[in-house]
Amino acid sequence: MTQNALFVTGTDTGVGKTLVTALLALKIRAMGFDCGVYKPFASGCDWENGALVSPDAQWLQKTLDLGDSLDEISPLRLEEPLAPLIAARRAGISTQDWPEIARAGFDHLRSKHEFIIVEGVGGLLVPVWDENEAIRTVEDLINAWQLPIVLVARRALGTINHTFLSLSVPLKAPANFAGLVFNDSAPVAPDDIAAQTSPEFISYQSAVPIWGQVPFLDCNDAAALRRAAQSIEIEL
Ligand SMILES: Nc1ncnc2c1ncn2[C@@H]1O[C@H](COP(=O)(O)OP(=O)(O)OP(=O)(O)O)[C@@H](O)[C@H]1O
Ligand SMILES: [Mg+2]
Repeated sequence: MTQNALFVTGTDTGVGKTLVTALLALKIRAMGFDCGVYKPFASGCDWENGALVSPDAQWLQKTLDLGDSLDEISPLRLEEPLAPLIAARRAGISTQDWPEIARAGFDHLRSKHEFIIVEGVGGLLVPVWDENEAIRTVEDLINAWQLPIVLVARRALGTINHTFLSLSVPLKAPANFAGLVFNDSAPVAPDDIAAQTSPEFISYQSAVPIWGQVPFLDCNDAAALRRAAQSIEIEL
């Protein structure tokens, strides 16, 4: 593999980025690499013993049995479940140092693991920090870190539009869309025609390969996640 990191983004919040991040990490591990995960910006965090804790980081740490601390996995945490920049502004927090803190944390985790899966926040155009009045988004972060993207999408009415809107975001090479994962974060009815037809339509119209279709998992224990991870095809 030429790259040693992937960036997981989604067509929306709640599409299953965290779950797919775990599946990708399990798959990379099954391919023989030591894989960690990184969630540089997390909003909607909970107070625990006087500190903010990211539920995503906590779940990933436990599910993947990671030795990395929650601070290492998720250094920049906000309480309100909002785009990070908006949550920061409402909390009176400066974002000035965020790009350096996020990058330093990434480099640190990269020095500890052979491969890192980075989970973004929301989708590509979510505002994360500002620089001299200019708004910086998840897209800017990916361009700066030059990472291949895995885009997680729903299988539902609206997916075609959301997916192509995300894929139309102009990245700066070498950042690129490497793969698409369709994920059912809610049960899909067998007669849901939009769900049955949208992945195929998208794959015909897009050059981005589909890396996997993850069904709704009734149980997401370690064995079920390992099984689901086997069906993901990483093409780097
Ligand atoms: N394939 C699946 N099967 C069962 N439950 C799922 C599946 N995918 C996601 N979920 C559940 O749906 C919810 C949202 O998923 P997840 O947290 O991974 O989304 P996200 O895109 O990371 O959200 P956020 O934008 O908040 O980070 C979680 O409760 C998760 O356990
Ligand atoms: Mg998440």
